[in-house]
Amino acid sequence: MTKRFMVTTPIYYVNDKPHIGQAYCTIAADVLARFHRAAGEETFFLTGTDEHGSKTEETAKRLGKTPQELCDMNAHYFKETWKSLNISYDYFIRTTDARHQKTVEKVLSILYRATTKRGEKVIYPGEYSGLYCVGCEKFITDKELVNGLCPDHLEKPRRVTEKNYFFRLTSYLKQIEELILTDKLKISPEERKKETLGLFKQGLDDFSISREKVSWGIPLPFDPTQNAYVWVDALFNYISAIGYGDDLNQFNKWWNGAEVVHLIGKDILKFHAVFWPAMLLALGERHPDQIFLHGFFTVDGQKMSKTLGNIVDPEYLVDQYGADATRYLLLTQFPFGQDGDIQVERLVEKYNSDLANDLGNLVSRTLKMVESFCGGQISGPSTYERSDEELKKEATECAERVWRFIQEINLNQAIDQIMKLVRSTNKYIENQAPWVLAKQNKKERLKTVLYVSCETLRIISALFYPVLPQKCKRIRQLLGLPDDELSPTLDKAKKWGGLKPGTKVGTLESLFPRMEKKVQTKRVKEAIVEQKSEMEISFEEFSKIDLRVAEVKEAEKVKGADKLLKLKIDLGAEQREIVAGIAGQYSPEEMVGKRIVVVTNLKPAKIRGIESKGMLLAAKDGKTLSLVCVDKDVKGGSEVS
Ligand code: MSP
Repeated sequence: MTKRFMVTTPIYYVNDKPHIGQAYCTIAADVLARFHRAAGEETFFLTGTDEHGSKTEETAKRLGKTPQELCDMNAHYFKETWKSLNISYDYFIRTTDARHQKTVEKVLSILYRATTKRGEKVIYPGEYSGLYCVGCEKFITDKELVNGLCPDHLEKPRRVTEKNYFFRLTSYLKQIEELILTDKLKISPEERKKETLGLFKQGLDDFSISREKVSWGIPLPFDPTQNAYVWVDALFNYISAIGYGDDLNQFNKWWNGAEVVHLIGKDILKFHAVFWPAMLLALGERHPDQIFLHGFFTVDGQKMSKTLGNIVDPEYLVDQYGADATRYLLLTQFPFGQDGDIQVERLVEKYNSDLANDLGNLVSRTLKMVESFCGGQISGPSTYERSDEELKKEATECAERVWRFIQEINLNQAIDQIMKLVRSTNKYIENQAPWVLAKQNKKERLKTVLYVSCETLRIISALFYPVLPQKCKRIRQLLGLPDDELSPTLDKAKKWGGLKPGTKVGTLESLFPRMEKKVQTKRVKEAIVEQKSEMEISFEEFSKIDLRVAEVKEAEKVKGADKLLKLKIDLGAEQREIVAGIAGQYSPEEMVGKRIVVVTNLKPAKIRGIESKGMLLAAKDGKTLSLVCVDKDVKGGSEVS
């Protein structure tokens, strides 16, 4: 029987747009899902948004929106960002979906009727008084506070006293501890397992599952004056998405018929490793197989936070590096499962060394040599020498090693193995020097060396496909592989000889064009600034911004950048050039003659080698971008105030 694999990410809060922390976990889950699919397993990849609770309610109020409007807007942003990053989820759950809400009501009714082995009610009413942090959506103890503030959100928690319903967690603790100790419920990495077991030693209490004063939530079916606690509502997404409430076959297929792995950040360990299995036990359902906790990263040594204004928008990284490189760069900064730091300047170095140099050059020079020395056609190899056999062995054995690391969720080692093969192939080409063989007219040897290089490249593109899906698909097209092999299986990466002699190959300019370091740094800093601008600024600060009407005189695409247009604008007293990321929505022809609004007193920025002296204003709704233009005939240079 085909093995089944189900992987989930946390469902993310919709009080803001996605940030790179959430993108990190989602990319990792996507890479896992794609590897399991490539290994021939039937795979279900679940992600989504967590939409109820006071956090959403309060943010909506601040923005003058209804909670549902805020949820719709930000759920849309999450979907768009995942699309930009090529996230191949099978289902996107939203906790405001009617389907999910019905399931939560059903689950709560079952739990309300249920009793423990000792005959006590699983859910019982009580009174709760404690400190509540809205940022965490959880009660917090005095001990956890730092200078009276929640250490994660740097906010003062509020005192809440209310009637709540409680879940009898204490009745399930022994059983869960045993499941974790015996690895039936595997908590990885090992240190997180120890941390979880430590929680049992410290002692855990029953927890409250409802809120009286939070109105944005799912009403308890047995007491509509209360709403379900957002965490209880959220955890059940893992089973509502696969039909617990309405499709038993599908539910059995995945929950009971697959290896179930939850991928989460270490911040939400207790909810997943203790509360969630306990609620499942009370419901009479099985626990997941594994909970893998990845670490947290800081950005340039600082914790990401709105207050510091250093939250990076993943869309900016995609604009700059492309989807594949963003996926690669985020995953390779530090080992998955450990904490780390993302140094924005180092991203460019890594991009240039691994992707532009090692992989990009391998692809372009291999294809170019086939073009120049063999008329663009892959020729059959003749006798293999020792060096050929060695590379062949390394290539065909690589898939097994990569797959082993993937099964251990050791993403960095898996990627390292593939990069090692890339470097060995480059070394092989240097040692064999096909250009010398061509000069010496050693035709047979030349054909063999180029065959071995192309065939290894085919294997590399199959192994790297889950991490770099777009680029690997392109490599495979260029290698002349048929359409049904463009999304490859791991099996095909184990067998030598996939490339048929006689196949025509293509050539390409550059798979990953080299990047200039300065430009990169600037751009990522801009990403950070944009988030910062969501904070309040004073009137004085606003009046420092010089906004002017500008008439677009000329427009052209920027070479090698899909999304950029270079515009020559007329500001009355002077003409300037600016570069704008609008080519996805506006053609150069459409732009000429438009009277747009431009910020003119910014420091010039070099973008793709062009000095851009200003930024235009545009409205963005998901992927839709609309320019801010003036609607009466005012001169270029007129002030906008
Ligand atoms: N809604 C809850 C989860 C409910 S799951 C049933 C939640 N949402 S969240 O939007 O705050 O997302 C938390 C997750 O984002 C973390 O578990 C982690 O995967 C990811 N990260 C957030 N910041 C991060 C870093 N700085 N570094 C790495 N991952 C980060 O909690």
